[in-house]
Amino acid sequence: MQKRNDFLTKINHMNQKHIWILLPLITLACVSVGPRFAAGEELDDATKARIAKAEAGAQTVDVSHYPKEIQENYQIFSEKCTQCHKLSRPINSDYALPSEWERYVKRMMHKPGSGIDSDSGKKIYEFLVYDSSIRKKSLVDAKLEKASPDERKSDEDKIKEIHQKYDSK
Ligand code: HEC
Repeated sequence: MQKRNDFLTKINHMNQKHIWILLPLITLACVSVGPRFAAGEELDDATKARIAKAEAGAQTVDVSHYPKEIQENYQIFSEKCTQCHKLSRPINSDYALPSEWERYVKRMMHKPGSGIDSDSGKKIYEFLVYDSSIRKKSLVDAKLEKASPDERKSDEDKIKEIHQKYDSK
C-alpha cells in the first residue's frame, strides 16, 4: 500500500511537461500493439476451424471482368483487410448476403487499429456484395431462400442497388 501511495504522490507531483511527453508515448504504444492483440484474440474451436478452412482457399479474386470502380474497391479491400489476417479469410468465408457483409465489415472496422474509415468501409462492403452476387451466387440464392420474406426483400434490394450503381460504369 505504501508503495502505491508513493507512486501516486509522484504522479501528482509530476509537472505538466512530463504528462505531455508521456501521453503521446502511451497512445503510440496502444495503437501499435492493438492490432496484434486483436489478431491473437481467443476464438472458439468452431470459429478457428471455419477460419482455417477459409484461409486455405484462394488468396485473390479475379476481378478483370468486374466494372472498373469495383476493381478499385477491390484494391482498397486487399489493402485494408490484410492488415491482421489473410485476404483468403473473407474471400472464402460463408458470408455472402449484404446483411452479413454489413455486420462483418462494421465488426472489422471496430477492431482496434483497423484504420478503416467509413468511406473505405462502404467501398469494401459494396465490393463484397457485388463479388458475392457473382462468385458466390448459388450460396446467395440458397441463403435468400431460407431468409424471411422481409429479410429476403431487403437483401435483394441492396444487391440490385449496388449493381445499378456500378454496372452502368
Ligand atoms: C485490426 C485487425 C483486423 C482487420 C483490419 C480486419 N480483420 Fe477480419 N478479423 C480480425 C480478427 C481478430 C478476426 C477473428 C475474430 C473475429 O471474428 O472477430 C477476424 C475475422 C474475420 C473473418 C472471419 C469471421 C468468422 O467468424 O468466420 C472475416 C470474414 C473477416 N475477418 C473479414 C475481414 C474484412 C472483410 C476486413 C476488411 C474490412 C477485415 N476482416 C479486416 C481482425 C481484423
